[in-house]
Amino acid sequence: MCGIVGYIGDGNAKEIIVRGLEKLEYRGYDSSGIALNCGGSIDVRKCKGRIADLEKLINGEVFDSHVGIGHTRWATHGAPSDVNSHPHCNIKGNIAVVHNGIIENYVELRKWLKDNYNTTFKSETDTEVIAQLIGVYYSGNLMDAVYKAQEKMKGAYAIGVIAAEEPEIMVAVRKNTPLVVGLGKDGNFIASDIPALLKHTRDVYLIENDETVLLTRDNVTIYNSAREEVGREVYRVEWDEAAAEKEGYDHFMLKEIHEQPKGVLETLMRRLDENDNIRLDGISFTKEDLEKINRVYIVACGTAYHASLVGKYAIEKFAKIPVEVDVASEFRYRDPLIDEKTLFIAVSQSGETLDTLEALREAKKKGARILSVVNVVGSSVTRESDDVFYTWAGPEIAVASTKAYTTQLICMYLIGLYMAALKESITEEYYSYIISELKKLPEKLEKLLESEPQIEEIAKKQYKRDSVFFIGRGTDVGISYEGSLKLKEISYINSFAIAAGELKHGTIALMEDDTLVVALATQDKLYEKMLSNIQEIKARGAYVIGMAKESNKRIEEQANDVIYIPDCADEVSTVLAVVPLQILAYYVAKFRGCDIDKPKNLAKSVTVE
Ligand code: G6P
Repeated sequence: MCGIVGYIGDGNAKEIIVRGLEKLEYRGYDSSGIALNCGGSIDVRKCKGRIADLEKLINGEVFDSHVGIGHTRWATHGAPSDVNSHPHCNIKGNIAVVHNGIIENYVELRKWLKDNYNTTFKSETDTEVIAQLIGVYYSGNLMDAVYKAQEKMKGAYAIGVIAAEEPEIMVAVRKNTPLVVGLGKDGNFIASDIPALLKHTRDVYLIENDETVLLTRDNVTIYNSAREEVGREVYRVEWDEAAAEKEGYDHFMLKEIHEQPKGVLETLMRRLDENDNIRLDGISFTKEDLEKINRVYIVACGTAYHASLVGKYAIEKFAKIPVEVDVASEFRYRDPLIDEKTLFIAVSQSGETLDTLEALREAKKKGARILSVVNVVGSSVTRESDDVFYTWAGPEIAVASTKAYTTQLICMYLIGLYMAALKESITEEYYSYIISELKKLPEKLEKLLESEPQIEEIAKKQYKRDSVFFIGRGTDVGISYEGSLKLKEISYINSFAIAAGELKHGTIALMEDDTLVVALATQDKLYEKMLSNIQEIKARGAYVIGMAKESNKRIEEQANDVIYIPDCADEVSTVLAVVPLQILAYYVAKFRGCDIDKPKNLAKSVTVE
């Protein structure tokens, strides 16, 4: 939620900051702005709308500035408006702040500033309080003022701060919201995420919680909360700028859909040795550890929650351990039964989702062992976990998650199989069979992607719909949820997913002439049952888009349109079944003229409750 950028160096601060913000727009895109130190005074330009609107606003303006900060916003306190946009300044206008996160005690602080300093506020934001607070403590030393302000601030924040009188420095703080520092040749950078830095450098410092960073053109110094200098190793980013570019695709989402064979292959190969044993490099999970565990929770939000449902299936089926799955926002508040015998698995693309992070902390406090499945290296979830299982999807930019999801599914299977191998709960033959089926997936995904034109045709026929139902059985239920979420988040069509067997307990009342239903029948074991369900809804007039394995042709007798996935073991069909639904959602949204990579009201990284 929200992206911050800062730069200090020899380059043109305006250009560098705006280009950096463009790379963070996925984090929020309702308003944006920049603050630049121009010869000892601070110039702020900001407006409601996309970064393209900010660019129009400052088009042609020349700023002689080599230090500045920028922000792209996802509104929390105060509606999107010019005045609520960041950066925010103190009354004197000599301090400017950008902020990602929430100041929980901002109402109290507003009152305190009004009562004690007669402070007046321009915006409704919590962020302005930070600028005003730093302003009242400022007497020529920005580091001092930032430290003093932190003593009063409660909440989660990553901030970047500049002061008019100190054009040779920039200060940044991280507390429970991501912050990275880029080490460039001609200057240094701060950003909420790595893509904003890649044009200039792949050498970064991953900043830890409660650290304050002092940046100059040539130096970066990190301090802890006691104001002692701390050392940090340079982290070399493995991917380059091209990985975070569209590379000829119309949208990041389509590019990321097409990157799934590679992501799945990478995630598998990093964990399998030459004998197909699962390698847990960096994870110390032994047979004894597993024996101690009597309860597993998998907790996540959004798409990652849907991957967790497959995690439950895989761990229960292979390792025969009962698993509970929950959305993080519910888990946190339901007083779950957790102790040292609990294994808590957090699943998160960004590793920054606040509800997931808080659920993890709750579980950790009560003694659970924490394993996380995360895409973003070095993110908050990874730092607070005992063990991390990375998904090697590469950077995912589109708000609607695709390749992170399929790689999460692979991790779920690998975790289930690893536990099964430790427990010896499945035969060697069955283990080898599932591994060999997993290894065939990248190639099958490539083949499946060839059906994109057929799915585009189906989307062309259906894109004007007001509502769509998704049904399935077994592992297809979770895939139905995910297909439905993909469609609604980017096309704004009211979609609904339900286990096919549950239809007759209410939802079938909504079936009438031409109701659109996407029916997933990819499980051999449940194929006949699904055909009956399709028959039942067809009898009420539904228009059915069916999905099945390519050998199961009888579905053509029932469904109006059929999408086939390559034959595979039932156990792993999830990884294939979701892809046509991603493509369907993509083209439906495209025909409807939606902003696919930046759907309204959403953000990729949700760092508020
Ligand atoms: C947001 C994103 C979703 C994502 C969810 C959880 O809602 O738009 O795509 O699934 O957050 O995010 P995480 O980073 O924890 O997987």
